[in-house]
Amino acid sequence: MILAHSLEELRTAVGASRRSGGVIGFVPTMGFLHEGHLSLVDGARVAGATFVVVSTFVNPTQFGPSEDFTRYPRNEERDRSLLESRGVELLFHPELQEVYPPGFATAIRVEGVSGPLEGQRRPGHFEGVATIVLKLLNMVQPDIAVFGRKDAQQCAVLLRMVRDLNVPVRLLFADTVREGDGLALSSRNSYLSAEERKAAPLLYRALRAGQNAVVQGIHDGPAIEELMRRSVADTSGVVVDYLVVVDPLTFESPADFHRDLLVAGAMRIGSTRIIDNLFIAGSEISHANLRAR
Ligand code: PAJ
Repeated sequence: MILAHSLEELRTAVGASRRSGGVIGFVPTMGFLHEGHLSLVDGARVAGATFVVVSTFVNPTQFGPSEDFTRYPRNEERDRSLLESRGVELLFHPELQEVYPPGFATAIRVEGVSGPLEGQRRPGHFEGVATIVLKLLNMVQPDIAVFGRKDAQQCAVLLRMVRDLNVPVRLLFADTVREGDGLALSSRNSYLSAEERKAAPLLYRALRAGQNAVVQGIHDGPAIEELMRRSVADTSGVVVDYLVVVDPLTFESPADFHRDLLVAGAMRIGSTRIIDNLFIAGSEISHANLRAR
């Protein structure tokens, strides 16, 4: 595996692969890797990538002033060996100065879909994400870039950006990898105490309840949201931030319950904030209706 710290090292290696007919796959991450991140590497491979680049840059501009940038977990050595054993061709781990040189003054703002839910609670977050992802795409110039549906609103923001700006890349969105009890893998799960870890699958269970309700034919947003909230009521140490059913492209309330939907949630367990979502394909909803008739 090639380890690149500078843009020049990155471009040299990617350029050599491209010239020999390589298909470049790219998986941007903030490091502290887990099986969810590694599944994106496999996704790139399945989509035909022959040269997979993973970046592990902890991007300061997507963290709010009261968020966890300085204490965000890091383990470069472990990341390196995990990626190596997964067969990744290049690890890109740039220094802050390489990414944001003095005088850096540009930002990408994706209107609309960046507004609700995470956007409302984390002002500037999606601007930070869109800017760094566009920069990384320009640095790597991959054929395929893979993102996790775990961060569904991030996927929607990036899809909008790539379409709006004609970024020449194919985006792939991979399914969420979970623990046996349903908790979505996340670097931030390392913040949870043993007790909090036990409570954490509550979010997944609430989303499952919402997903089941939709598939059973309850096509009423507020009723589904109430049902999800009731399923987590009175759990000590857990504070629900939101539990909603939304359109997976706009993140607004769904206009039509027969199209694709998303149940999405965020909660605070102690001082750790976790997010998750479940996708409901329009076909699942209409099949359930056919069965019900
Ligand atoms: P990070 O949180 O490190 O996640 C990197 C990628 O892994 C994202 O596409 C995320 O959706 C995906 N991912 C995280 N947990 C997952 C899981 N349990 N199953 C499947 N995929 C999962 O998301 C970011 O970093 C940053 O915002 C980034 C895009 C790198 C820009 O800085």
